Amino acid sequence: MDTLKPKLTLLEPQPTPLQYLSGLSQELFREMYIKRDDLTPLGGGGNKLRKLEYLMFEALNEQATTIITVGGIQTNHGRLTAAAAAKYGLKCIIVTVDDEYDGHLSGNLLLDGLFGARVIVKKNDGRDKDTQLSETVKQVMEQELQKGERIYFIPMGGSDLTGMLGYYDCAKELDAQAQEHQINGATVYTAVGSMGTYLGLYCGLKAIHSSLKLTGIAIMPLDKDKLHHYFLQAKEAYGFTFDDSDMHIETDYVRKGYNDPDKQVRHAIGLMARHEGLLLDPCYTGKMFAGVLDMIKEKKIKLGSQLILLHTGGMPGLYAAAHYTKFEKELADTVTVIE
Ligand SMILES: Cc1ncc(COP(=O)(O)O)c(C=O)c1O
Repeated sequence: MDTLKPKLTLLEPQPTPLQYLSGLSQELFREMYIKRDDLTPLGGGGNKLRKLEYLMFEALNEQATTIITVGGIQTNHGRLTAAAAAKYGLKCIIVTVDDEYDGHLSGNLLLDGLFGARVIVKKNDGRDKDTQLSETVKQVMEQELQKGERIYFIPMGGSDLTGMLGYYDCAKELDAQAQEHQINGATVYTAVGSMGTYLGLYCGLKAIHSSLKLTGIAIMPLDKDKLHHYFLQAKEAYGFTFDDSDMHIETDYVRKGYNDPDKQVRHAIGLMARHEGLLLDPCYTGKMFAGVLDMIKEKKIKLGSQLILLHTGGMPGLYAAAHYTKFEKELADTVTVIE
C-alpha cells in the first residue's frame, strides 16, 4: 500500500477482520458489523498500534533511546507504546497527572509494568491538568537528557500529524473489506478521544471517495476548534483537496466525562458480550456502543441501516479498579457456591 510517510510493520497479519454481528443485528434490527482493531497483534492490541507503526519508525529513524508519552493513568496508548518500545529495545516512560492512584496496579498499569515501562504519576495539585502534565514532561525530559538518553516524544493518544496516518491507511483497508462484503454506504462508528483515529479515518475515506460514512462518538467533551485546527494542519501537510464540512461527531453521549464508570456503558458492554461473545472497554468502545444504542432508541439510526463499529481495543480497562468493582457488584449473583 502507498503511504504518505514511511512506517514499520506492527500489524501482521493484515487486514484486521471485519465481522458480521449476527446476534446484535437480529436484536437491534440493523445490519451490524465490527472491525476488529482490538486484534492488532502486539501488547494486547488496539488502535494505537496503527499510529505507532508511523511513530516508532520516526523514533528509530531519529535513533531515539527513550520514548516519552502522556495519558490518563489507564492509558491504552501508553500500554501499547510500552509494548512497541519493548519490541524495539527502547525505554518507555509514561507521564500522567492523577489524583486517584491508590497504589494498585490495576488494568493497563499492570501491563505497563510488565512491558518494562516507567510510569510517572504527578499528583494532581488542582491546577490546570495540561499545565501540570507539560511541566512534568519537561522535568522528566531534562532528567533523561542529562543521563544521555535520546528522546522521542509522543503526544496524547499518538494523535499528531504522523500518528493519524495509521487510520488514514485503515480507511482504505476498511473500504476494500466493505466492498468485498458488499456493504455499500454503511456508517462507521468510532470513539473519539484525542481525535487522531477519527481524523485519519475521515481524511482516508474522503481521499478515496469512499461510500462509507463516518460518525464519531465523543467520549469526553469535544474541542471543535482543536479538531478544525488539526484538520487544517493535516490538509496543509498532506495536500488534501477536500474540506472538513462532512465531519460528524456526536457529543451527546459523553456522560459524566472521561473514563467515568457509567451504568449504561456497562449495559452496552454486557449486551455485546452476551450476544456476540466480544469484549468492549468501559472508557472508549463501550461508551461508543452505548451512544449507538441511544441513537437507535432516538431513531437517529434508522431500521435496516448498516453500521460498522470500529473496535479500537482497550479491554484491559475492564480490569481497572474503578470499573471492575462496579461490574463485580452487578454480576455477583452469576456465581453460585455449593458445598
Ligand atoms: C481503546 C481506545 N479506543 C479509542 C480511542 C480514541 O482514539 P483517539 O484518541 O485517536 O481519538 C483510544 C485512545 O486512547 C483508545 O485507547
